[in-house]
Amino acid sequence: MGTLQPMTLLLVSLSFCLVSFSYAEINRQPIISTFNPRRNASSSSTPMQLGNGNFAFGADITGLQTFLPFNTLSSWGWHNSSLPTTAGQSSPADFTGLEWWTHGRLVDYDQPNPAEAAISQWLIANPHRINLGRVGLWFKKDINLDESAIAGSEQELDLYGGLLNSRFQVNGTSVEVQTIVDPESDTIAVSVQSELVSKGELGFFVDFPYASGANKFEAPFVGIWNATENHTTTLRSYNSWAEIQHDLDDTTYFTAIKWTGQASVEGPLNDSHRYHLTPSSGSGNDFSFTSTFSPSRSLKSRMFSEVKSSSASWWHIYWESGAFISLPAASNSSAAELQRRIILSQYLLAVNSASKDPPQESGLVNNGWYGKFHMEMYFWHSMHWTLWNKWALLDRSISVYQRFLPTSLQRAEEQGYTGARWGKMSDPSGRSAPGEINSLLIWQQPHPFYFAEMEWRQSPTTQTLEKWDDVLKATADFMASYAFRNQSTKGYDLGPPMYPVSENTNPNDTVNPTFELAYWGFGLDVASKWQQRQGKAVPNTWTRVAENLRPLPVQNGTYVLYEGVKDMWNTTDLIEDHPALLGINGWLPPNSHVNFTIFNNTIAKVYETWNFTYSYGWDFPLLAMTAARLGDTQKAIDWLLDPNFEFDDVGMPIGGARVPTPYLPGSSSLLLTVGMMAGGWDGDEGLHFPDEWDIEAEGFAIAM
Ligand SMILES: *[C@@H]1O[C@H](CO)[C@@H](O)[C@H](O)[C@H]1NC(C)=O
Ligand SMILES: *[C@@H]1O[C@H](CO)[C@@H](O)[C@H](O)[C@H]1NC(C)=O
Ligand SMILES: *[C@@H]1O[C@H](CO)[C@@H](O)[C@H](O)[C@H]1NC(C)=O
Ligand SMILES: *[C@@H]1O[C@H](CO)[C@@H](O)[C@H](O)[C@H]1NC(C)=O
Ligand SMILES: *[C@@H]1O[C@H](CO)[C@@H](O)[C@H](O)[C@H]1NC(C)=O
Ligand SMILES: *[C@@H]1O[C@H](CO)[C@@H](O)[C@H](O)[C@H]1NC(C)=O
Ligand SMILES: *[C@@H]1O[C@H](CO)[C@@H](O)[C@H](O)[C@H]1NC(C)=O
Ligand SMILES: *[C@@H]1O[C@H](CO)[C@@H](O)[C@H](O)[C@H]1NC(C)=O
Ligand SMILES: *[C@@H]1O[C@H](CO)[C@@H](O)[C@H](O)[C@H]1NC(C)=O
Ligand SMILES: *[C@@H]1O[C@H](CO)[C@@H](O)[C@H](O)[C@H]1NC(C)=O
Ligand SMILES: *[C@@H]1O[C@H](CO)[C@@H](O)[C@H](O)[C@H]1NC(C)=O
Ligand SMILES: *[C@@H]1O[C@H](CO)[C@@H](O)[C@H](O)[C@H]1NC(C)=O
Repeated sequence: MGTLQPMTLLLVSLSFCLVSFSYAEINRQPIISTFNPRRNASSSSTPMQLGNGNFAFGADITGLQTFLPFNTLSSWGWHNSSLPTTAGQSSPADFTGLEWWTHGRLVDYDQPNPAEAAISQWLIANPHRINLGRVGLWFKKDINLDESAIAGSEQELDLYGGLLNSRFQVNGTSVEVQTIVDPESDTIAVSVQSELVSKGELGFFVDFPYASGANKFEAPFVGIWNATENHTTTLRSYNSWAEIQHDLDDTTYFTAIKWTGQASVEGPLNDSHRYHLTPSSGSGNDFSFTSTFSPSRSLKSRMFSEVKSSSASWWHIYWESGAFISLPAASNSSAAELQRRIILSQYLLAVNSASKDPPQESGLVNNGWYGKFHMEMYFWHSMHWTLWNKWALLDRSISVYQRFLPTSLQRAEEQGYTGARWGKMSDPSGRSAPGEINSLLIWQQPHPFYFAEMEWRQSPTTQTLEKWDDVLKATADFMASYAFRNQSTKGYDLGPPMYPVSENTNPNDTVNPTFELAYWGFGLDVASKWQQRQGKAVPNTWTRVAENLRPLPVQNGTYVLYEGVKDMWNTTDLIEDHPALLGINGWLPPNSHVNFTIFNNTIAKVYETWNFTYSYGWDFPLLAMTAARLGDTQKAIDWLLDPNFEFDDVGMPIGGARVPTPYLPGSSSLLLTVGMMAGGWDGDEGLHFPDEWDIEAEGFAIAM
């Protein structure tokens, strides 16, 4: 689970990108710095954040986690609670799921089984992602100091440099803190300047929480701080560094603390897992240290100055490579807000959503769905890297399809299909959590074709063909095998049972949803091209299904959610949530099966009836992509700035009534849409913004 090596590689490949995109003409830094987040007080809902994609640190107004226990999350820190002790349900192997009728045969789905409630719930909640620890300041004269007791707080996140500057006063004495996260290791580097240091009145603490799968969402704070007895920490002190081992049941990891100058580490303090790092008095006002979190003992942790220079060069390369867009922010308030969202999204996605696995929806800010990630959401999280030409960041996780291939082949086989059926809510092992929706959603299946085709357009080489071949073949085999030949229509059906993108129908009635049919068609088309590019024959099974998929369902002149749906436009539950049927032209490239008279009627009907108050996150970018494809660029901008699609002062997309903030697919889908509007698409390349907007854009790939 070492994270060091991929990051080093990333630096090399990003440098390579810098060379290949050395035409950067836009003076990017001043535009980026305009949007540096600034705060004068902690937010109770979101931290200021630093991170490297696999590891992130959420800070309060002090630049650390002094007053608020914001989180330190990683892609590698996970924990299992003990297994249930219920007879016959004490092992994952005891879980059998449920059998549902599927075209005349019983298929076993990973769904919670009421007769196996304990192990079903255990598999949903385990493993869960853990908060690695809290790092803050303490004040010798008032160990319980709170935020109301400090004055003159000012904080600025330097986006271009990847560092956080915080300053405030305690009883009139100023304290300045600089915080950085290392791009090459999971290290927080901290430098403090204050007379309180030389007086011996200021120190640092590191504290460690326990973890459990009791809550599906843990926001804004993750972990259990009062179950001290349930876990252990062990200190090992050396000369100028110390190491704390944290054991929570079967999970063990290490925190190496390394400082410059004279200091000591003591702890744990008073029935806690809190340790104090105390600079010696009289040795000057400046003190710096690093805290490196690692699943294995890391004897080579880095110093503040090393982290500072790595971070500066990593962020420089990040901002100067790949695409960039400059909107007329000075003269147009919509452009200014959109530019703010773009820059802050770029920052937050590099921090939170560029990990070795697909990211969780809340990134590394807090936990949702126990810290797990969703394979159907991988498209929305990560496709923007392709249009923005930031391939090295996508490459960190794209091997997930190779890694999950064995479990996905097995899933399909156990259900009587050929090929690979991709899972849904996952942990790094590839196990998909039990769930009725989890087991019956299908729109994640064609995603590999979209990723592969974007990569082929960027690099049409034998290597690309070979890289994806196994995955695409197995994916197409499943998609063909899943489609059911309907004896009465002679067409191929998708479902039942299945859930469409919007997850709001009865799965036993749901058949041939508009979006999924179009996406199946798109996927099987790429599958055939992939074979042809390699001079291989296209399997007949794929062609037969592709040519005989049921037509997109039409009623009264509009596309509808699925074939045979009753009175869709007058059914409250069916005209809310993701309007995926508009994705057949926008999210997906234009498709020869789409009739534009009917499609236009469908857009009009969605605009007239849909409950957009209930929409959130990527729904708005989805609507914007459709509007942009039809040439309505003003409408596209309006969707991207819709009142129900908000971003907070540090750029975190608001979750609203449905999920905690941040809901990061909002950021990534925004960038995907902006990428499409900046680079255009096949047959209509270039900018798609309102004519009066004076825009500079560079480095964007062309969408399909
Ligand atoms: C924060 O403090 C700075 C300096 O005192 C001041 O200029 C700024 O207006 C304050 N910002 C807010 C949001 O209060
Ligand atoms: C949690 O348990 C599962 C199933 O026994 C196992 O595969 C996985 O490695 C464990 N993960 C952790 C973090 O202990
Ligand atoms: C769908 O059908 C299965 C039987 O195949 C049944 O167990 C299940 O309850 C049905 N689900 C709904 C939502 O009707
Ligand atoms: C601040 O000053 C008050 C009053 O002198 C004192 O009681 C308190 O301990 C001081 N706090 C710190 C953190 O120095
Ligand atoms: C720990 O804190 C939680 C939440 O405040 C509380 O419900 C629980 O009883 C506490 N447990 C102990 C052992 O103090
Ligand atoms: C801590 O351990 C005790 C004793 O085994 C147990 O009753 C309690 O539920 C555990 N607490 C948590 C948060 O898991
Ligand atoms: C530890 O306990 C002692 C005595 O109760 C108390 O004075 C001290 O403040 C405590 N330290 C911490 C860090 O809570
Ligand atoms: C078509 O529209 C009519 C009247 O607007 C309505 O009564 C009928 O149910 C609709 N048919 C379908 C299949 O939705
Ligand atoms: C169905 O909804 C349309 C608006 O989309 C409305 O004009 C019509 O009266 C409704 N019909 C029924 C039967 O509710
Ligand atoms: C599109 O659908 C309309 C309405 O059903 C129909 O009149 C038209 O012929 C169709 N266009 C094409 C190109 O099939
Ligand atoms: C659909 O709407 C777009 C945008 O208004 C328009 O350009 C196009 O001609 C329309 N297509 C049809 C077939 O009506
Ligand atoms: C639309 O959604 C909002 C938010 O969930 C809800 O309060 C409202 O009742 C819905 N409106 C309709 C017409 O269903």
